[in-house]
Amino acid sequence: MAALLIIAFSLLGYGSGAMVPAKRATVCNGHAELCDRNYGNVTFMGAHDSFAFSEDPFALARDQEVDIPTQLGLGVRLLQAQSHMYATYPSRWSSFIYFRVNPGTTVNCISATRDLFDGGTVLDYLETVHTFLNDNPNEVLTFIFTNPEGVSLPDVWAPAFEQSGIADLAYVPPTVPMKQSDWPTLGELIDSGKRVVVFLDAGADTDRSVPYILPEFEMVWETPFSVTDDTFPCSVDRISGPLSTEDHMYMINHSLNINVFDTGIIISDPEDAPTTNGVTSIIANANGCAPFAAGRAPNFVLLDFVNLGKGLQAVNQLNGLSTPTRLTSAVTSILQAISTAADEVSL
Ligand SMILES: *[C@@H]1O[C@H](CO)[C@@H](O)[C@H](O)[C@H]1NC(C)=O
Ligand SMILES: *[C@@H]1O[C@H](CO)[C@@H](O)[C@H](O)[C@H]1NC(C)=O
Repeated sequence: MAALLIIAFSLLGYGSGAMVPAKRATVCNGHAELCDRNYGNVTFMGAHDSFAFSEDPFALARDQEVDIPTQLGLGVRLLQAQSHMYATYPSRWSSFIYFRVNPGTTVNCISATRDLFDGGTVLDYLETVHTFLNDNPNEVLTFIFTNPEGVSLPDVWAPAFEQSGIADLAYVPPTVPMKQSDWPTLGELIDSGKRVVVFLDAGADTDRSVPYILPEFEMVWETPFSVTDDTFPCSVDRISGPLSTEDHMYMINHSLNINVFDTGIIISDPEDAPTTNGVTSIIANANGCAPFAAGRAPNFVLLDFVNLGKGLQAVNQLNGLSTPTRLTSAVTSILQAISTAADEVSL
C-alpha cells in the first residue's frame, strides 16, 4: 500500500521535481516574440517621475497626468521615481521615505507646496505596483529609483520592498555588474518568478547588502537630463565602470523641458508631449544614441506624460514587433481626432 502511494504520488509529481512539467511562459510582456529575448535586448517604455501625476495643469511639478495603474495599463514597464526621507523636510515628522519631485532651480522661486510633489510613501507606491504584478503574472517590470540623500539600503529601502511583497519578485543577477548580453530572457525571468529588476542611482554601488537593489550606472547609462533642445542630441551622460559603454544597457531620457520665460525655471510641458512622445521624435533620439551602443536600440525610453503621444508604438517598433494593422491605426487616428476635438471644445 505504502509503495503504491509512493508510486501514485511520484506519478503526480509530488516530491520529484523532474515529474512536474515545467510551466513555460508563452506570452511575455504582451508578446510571444519577447519570451526568448534577453532582458538586455528589449526596449521598455518608462514613466519619468511616475508618482508625480496630477490632472491639474497648475501642478507645475507634475510630470504625468495619469496614475500608476493607468500608466501600467498603457504599457509602461519601467517606473522611475525619486525618493527623499520624510524627516528631511522641515515640519515633517515621520521617517517614512516619500517620493518627491524637486526640479532643481525652482526651489526658491515657487512656494514649496507647489514645487515639491508629494507622492506618498514608497510603501504605498510599491504596494500599488505589487497589485498590478500579482494580477499580471507574465509581465517583467523595472524600477529606476534615485536616492539623492543616500538613504540606507538595508534599513529603509529593503523593508519597503519586503513589506510590499516586491522583494519576493526581485531578480538577483549572478554577478554585478552584468553585461547587457548576459541577462536571462523575459521567459526565464517570468518562469522563475523573479521578474522585477530594481536599479538605484546611488548607494547600491558601495553597499551590496541588499542583493536585489542594483547599482544603475554600472549596468545602465543615461542620456543627459533637463533637455530643452527638441532634437535630443545624444551623449553618454551618467555611467560608471568597469563594463565598457557597449556592454551597458541604456536609457534615453526623452522628456522635453521648457525654460519658463528664460528664468532658469525648468518644467516639463504637456503641450509638447504629443510631439515629443511621437514615433518620429523617439526613433530619432534612439537612432542618435545607437552609435554608442553598437547599433542597439535603447533599453528604456523614459517619458513624461506617457498618456500623450505614441510612446508604445515607438517602443514596439524599436522591439521589431509587428505594427498595428491599417484598420487599428485608422481607428486610433479617429479616436485621437475625437479626443483632440474634445480637448479644444473644453478649452
Ligand atoms: C536587440 O537585438 C537586435 C538584433 O541585434 C537589435 O536590432 C536591437 O536594437 C536590440 N535591442 C536592444 C534594446 O538591445
Ligand atoms: C530625466 O530628466 C529629468 C529632467 O528632464 C530629470 O529630472 C531626471 O532626473 C532624469 N531622469 C533620470 C532617471 O535621470
